[in-house]
Amino acid sequence: MARKIVVTSGKGGVGKTTVSCNLAVHLAQRGKRVIVCDLDFGLNNVDVVLGIEHLGLYDVTDAVEGRCRPRQTLVRHPRFPTLFALSSNRVSERYVSPQAVRLILDSLSPQFDFIIIDSPAGIEDGFHRAAACAGEAILVTTPHLSAMRDADRVAGILKSYRFDRVGLAVNRTRKDLIRRGEVLSPEEIAKVLAVPLYASIPEDDKFYLDNVNPKSRTYRALAELVEELPFRENKRKKA
Ligand SMILES: Nc1ncnc2c1ncn2[C@@H]1O[C@H](COP(=O)(O)OP(=O)(O)OP(=O)(O)O)[C@@H](O)[C@H]1O
Ligand SMILES: [Mg+2]
Repeated sequence: MARKIVVTSGKGGVGKTTVSCNLAVHLAQRGKRVIVCDLDFGLNNVDVVLGIEHLGLYDVTDAVEGRCRPRQTLVRHPRFPTLFALSSNRVSERYVSPQAVRLILDSLSPQFDFIIIDSPAGIEDGFHRAAACAGEAILVTTPHLSAMRDADRVAGILKSYRFDRVGLAVNRTRKDLIRRGEVLSPEEIAKVLAVPLYASIPEDDKFYLDNVNPKSRTYRALAELVEELPFRENKRKKA
């Protein structure tokens, strides 16, 4: 069964889709079978970020409404053969329930190791739909005060979901600002939000041109950590 991880944030534009896609690419490079599922129905762009927007025939609502089988919604990435995308780029105005999406993901789950769920910003229906499908969460924030305040609200709400694990990714960090004491360090942010720090992702101009970096050391480390989490927890329990 796949581990289902929702990538969420309070504020928009902090890097959820970038984190979802890069984490998925790096897990796939480590031989894992991964789906990136775009549940940001309003502003979906996982297919664009992965550069496969021209390849999909069906999306999640086609499976929900019975026009295709769940497996047919998946687009295999041409460069990473164990990476698949499940887009939501044809979603209409019609309401799609969390249960309906969960059924689709559950039916795909046995053939995969990870389902990474990209969620919309905020705490509206779309966020709850994405959270209801997952067993774990990664909360993304930048060091900006407004993003942190929104992340704090979401961290509170995530508690009510009783996820197996919740971790924090602090994106767009800048050493110069941290050194000058102008922003909190990722460690300090994790302490304030009371969420364990999974990754500190530096501001990187390369993301301006290309949203996925298969060579990123930061994302490689995040993928390694995510993969090992259950084993680390087991070890801790035994000790
Ligand atoms: N570490 C980084 N350094 C520089 N730019 C970044 C970094 N991470 C993300 N970005 C840029 O920030 C912008 C927003 O990222 P992204 O689309 O991943 O955010 P999001 O949280 O998914 O947004 P939305 O809430 O609209 O879904 C993109 O242009 C992306 O390239
Ligand atoms: Mg996004």
